[in-house]
Amino acid sequence: MSNQQARILVVGGAGYIGSHIVRQLINACHDVVILDDLSTGYRQLVHQDGEFVQGHLGDLNLLEQLFNRHRFDAVMHFAAFSQVGESMHHPLRYYQNNLGDTITLLKAMQSHGIRRFVFSSTAAVYGEPLEIPITESHPCLPTNPYGNTKLAVERLLTDCDMAYGLRSIALRYFNAAGADESGEIGELHDPETHLIPNLFKAALGQIDHIRLFGTDYPTPDGTCIRDYVHVNDLAQAHLLALDVLLADGESAVYNLGSNSGFSVKEVIEKAEAVIEKKIPVIESPRRPGDPAKLVASSDKIRRELGWKPGYESLETIIATAWRWHRKNV
Ligand code: UFG
Repeated sequence: MSNQQARILVVGGAGYIGSHIVRQLINACHDVVILDDLSTGYRQLVHQDGEFVQGHLGDLNLLEQLFNRHRFDAVMHFAAFSQVGESMHHPLRYYQNNLGDTITLLKAMQSHGIRRFVFSSTAAVYGEPLEIPITESHPCLPTNPYGNTKLAVERLLTDCDMAYGLRSIALRYFNAAGADESGEIGELHDPETHLIPNLFKAALGQIDHIRLFGTDYPTPDGTCIRDYVHVNDLAQAHLLALDVLLADGESAVYNLGSNSGFSVKEVIEKAEAVIEKKIPVIESPRRPGDPAKLVASSDKIRRELGWKPGYESLETIIATAWRWHRKNV
């Protein structure tokens, strides 16, 4: 089965990244059921053409009902807590949701014979990089509970492949950014910790200023370098991964980034150029746990799955985010 209409369960489809994947799945004529407990997702991000079930991925009874009602061809999983700082203070909450409840989901899939899984992973599995750009063979040494939980699921997936023939593709995102061109869905978090939406909040007076975390990093301008990738390019990669699994392809792990990095100061300058306004910035101490530089090599997914990001310019990525933010946040 490939490039055919499939029935997909999207767990966490009311979140920032999940909602963009749902939109592309529906545009590609797949039949989509969205499971989300709205703890960090938003009703307004739920696509009207998907069936929406409000509930938690750790609720085995609910999963049993869902899997009895629908014969899913694959499951895509985005329902994780994803704040590094919060994970340091609440590791049990992170392990329970990101690992424990994912085990429940995988058990329910296993008992219903569903053997295709696309997993939302993260650059945080690598920890402090030993070399740049980071390839998939870079050692995985996470430096926080969030990264540990994601790596634990990746390892579990490898074991489930060997034991049960569960085929999975894990996609390790670098810095997801931007919003769909429609302006109908985009980034929403509460609290917001990410750089680009916080720049807009400061520009709009929703917060007094943005704090620039650290100006003494070993980088050319002293601020951290990150690899920003448009959320719709991430979404496109998920559809390619799904096609591989529907065609009974092998399990794999891929980085998703742009192969280029921008410093926080560069992002601020580009945001100011896009919105044509000076943003109030206060230089502040480093934020604990931030590596100086994270840039992906995405050569593997480009080569093996033919992934071609459509948004190569950071200005365009920021412009799509701005269009969403000024209307909706
Ligand atoms: N930053 C600021 N001020 C802010 C927010 C961020 O200076 O108000 C800086 C950060 O210190 C960092 C850069 O902007 O240097 C980007 O920060 P983000 O919070 O936007 O993104 P991160 O790189 O910290 O996080 C991303 C993902 C995480 C993932 C992590 C991997 O959002 O889910 O990469 O390290 F875990």
